[in-house]
Amino acid sequence: GKVCLAYSGGLDTSTILAWLLEQGYSVVLGCRREEGSVAIPSPTLAIDEDETQRSRINFGIAVSPLTKYMRHTALQIGAEKASRVRRGALLEGRPVRTYYSPRSRRQFPRLTVQQNAIYEDQYLLGTSLARPIIARGQMKAAAATGCQFVSHGCTGKGNDQIRFEFAFYTINPEIKVIAPWRDPTFYNRFQGRNDLLDYAAEKGIPVTSTKAKPYSMDDNFAHCSYEAGMLEDPNVTPPEDMWTRTVSPLKAPDTPLDITIHFSKGLPVKVVTPSKTVTDSVELFGLLNDLGKEHGVGRVDIVENRFIGLKSRGCYDSPGMTILRLAHISLEGLVLDGRVRALRDNLSKQWSELLYNGYYFSPEREFLQPSLDHAQLRVNGEVRLRLYKGHAYCLGRTSPEKLYSEEDASMDSLTTFDPSETSGFVTINAIRLKKYGLQKAEAGEK
Ligand code: ARG
Ligand code: SIN
Repeated sequence: GKVCLAYSGGLDTSTILAWLLEQGYSVVLGCRREEGSVAIPSPTLAIDEDETQRSRINFGIAVSPLTKYMRHTALQIGAEKASRVRRGALLEGRPVRTYYSPRSRRQFPRLTVQQNAIYEDQYLLGTSLARPIIARGQMKAAAATGCQFVSHGCTGKGNDQIRFEFAFYTINPEIKVIAPWRDPTFYNRFQGRNDLLDYAAEKGIPVTSTKAKPYSMDDNFAHCSYEAGMLEDPNVTPPEDMWTRTVSPLKAPDTPLDITIHFSKGLPVKVVTPSKTVTDSVELFGLLNDLGKEHGVGRVDIVENRFIGLKSRGCYDSPGMTILRLAHISLEGLVLDGRVRALRDNLSKQWSELLYNGYYFSPEREFLQPSLDHAQLRVNGEVRLRLYKGHAYCLGRTSPEKLYSEEDASMDSLTTFDPSETSGFVTINAIRLKKYGLQKAEAGEK
């Protein structure tokens, strides 16, 4: 059989790769980021002579410049053939699919900023939103290469397995899933990190590229998450050097940075800083990540409830998303009808929950979508923000579509309605409250 493995290049998925090959599968690697997947003919493994740079390339370790490495991977494997490959030849290796494209990244704000998505008041869903995108790409690679199976390295205790597999099954109800961490023949053999390391050594998996990380990290364009390891004690303060996407607010510049974000239909379309203007949606998200990083914006530390019922402590670094969320909400206040907003807020909560629980590809998500999109039709305008020492502040907002009226709201003006009419409003609305007060008084309650 042929299996498409969601491959990060870390120790777990590298071990799974070797294990799948050992079980006799041919494996297509579905890699995150731009350069997609690379077919590896069974039963050979791509191992380079040079254990450092090249092995990082071939194993595409998930550090931030992965995009560059992945691009090289395709060239490398196709172009260099046997000359630099130590064990087995990778003659047939060829890039088959590009799926983690900039277009996918363009979806990030559409998936979360527009809906103000947030889980349990704090988590901006950076991993949750990436899973359906990755799964969809993986399924495209699987279909393009004729895989009957897909596989992933998620543990049996988490959300990610659910998100991946729900997406797989919706996209192709016939697909078969191999989840090694839930398969006793796998987990009885690899009981701890040492077993994985031994196996890696035996199989020639370059360990230089799979160094133990003290936490489980999931790094993507939207955020970086940190879980497990020392973080499992929810009372342990994460060490400063854990955070990769933000400087410490204590070390952030003493000078604030003022920026302007423009929105069209609830999506960010332009960012203006004192030194530049950016309009490309991927570029502007990257810019906000950089600026947020510099000013220490977007750290979260929460104990959250996983879908399967376990509690888990997670830390998240999401500078760009934090800034965008504040900007978006600040503009919505000016343009959204109050009742629409209240209804929409309920839907946002539902949306966030279903994204977290892995139901992006589902009838309920499709049901909510048009209402959420409708609410964004008038979310056009600009927001001025200040980034300063770990926070983003709204400095002001303006919109051609604003419902807000200075005249209506003004405490100094009596022109737009007659204040005496408000007496009727209060009287009528107080009818049931008076009844309630009376009832309590009769019962002798306070
Ligand atoms: N707890 C977060 C979530 O469920 C982050 C999960 C991170 N996943 C990982 N494989 N490290 O969305
Ligand atoms: C994992 O199990 O792969 C990480 C945690 C999660 O999925 O929630």
